[in-house]
Amino acid sequence: MTWSPSQYTLFEQQRNRPIFDLLARVPGEPRRIVDLGCGPGNSTELLRHRFPDAEVIGIDSSPEMVEAAWRRLPGVRFEVGDIANWDDGRPYDLIFANASFQWVSGHEVLLPRLMKKLNPGGSLAVQVPDNLEEPSHVLMREVAADPRWAGKLSKQPRDLALRREAGWYLRLLQQQAEQVDVWRTTYYHPLKRGPSDVVEWFKSTGLRPFLQPLDENEQAEFLRRYLAAVTSSYPPAEDGSSLLAFPRLFFVATCR
Ligand SMILES: C[S@@+](CC[C@H](N)C(=O)[O-])C[C@H]1O[C@@H](n2cnc3c(N)ncnc32)[C@H](O)[C@@H]1O
Repeated sequence: MTWSPSQYTLFEQQRNRPIFDLLARVPGEPRRIVDLGCGPGNSTELLRHRFPDAEVIGIDSSPEMVEAAWRRLPGVRFEVGDIANWDDGRPYDLIFANASFQWVSGHEVLLPRLMKKLNPGGSLAVQVPDNLEEPSHVLMREVAADPRWAGKLSKQPRDLALRREAGWYLRLLQQQAEQVDVWRTTYYHPLKRGPSDVVEWFKSTGLRPFLQPLDENEQAEFLRRYLAAVTSSYPPAEDGSSLLAFPRLFFVATCR
């Protein structure tokens, strides 16, 4: 199951909110920037607006996302690559990663390696969803535990629990950075079409690892059960909308 740029951008406005908040905490005027896990180029586009004179490149492991990013920003260099081993041998002033490191394991190795790629005064700026204990994700795991497909899905949920807590990131990054800023924000998104929008939101992200191993019929049944489950946790208001609470963890580490 490939990444779908069109499904992901259904909620682009809401997904862009943390990008603005992360950008607001980046110090200085970086001249060379990489956007790791650039997706369809939405984060890259905002980086370009904020730093119009900088050289910006985007890296993503999904050819579909890279293609969409290139269509959006034809003047920018985008490459297919894996964050886990990406290294073009050049130093950067800003390494930016919004909503992508939750898909990459080994943060204890990845982050120190990326910090070493920064120029003096450069920053590593990252946002990762912190929603594994939200009803949206607890319910995914509950539906996945059904014996009908539990065997196929047994490895998925825990493998995805790669994220660490705020203090862990702070202590790790303080070993290399002069300044580390860590914070957590919960966004509240009213979703017009209620619980079915909750399903649509996560179909392009958190649900992917659960749907990927299933055949077409199983996928449809999984989504039917997930919709029923989220309907009770995200009940529609009078106007039909549901409120999605979405906590996210941020850190910006800046070198001497
Ligand atoms: C949720 S999207 C984030 C897109 C964009 N940065 C944003 O701010 O909305 C996550 C992106 O990370 C990419 N990704 C996941 N694992 C990756 C990896 N190991 N290396 C590179 N990109 C990866 C996916 O292809 C996807 O486009």
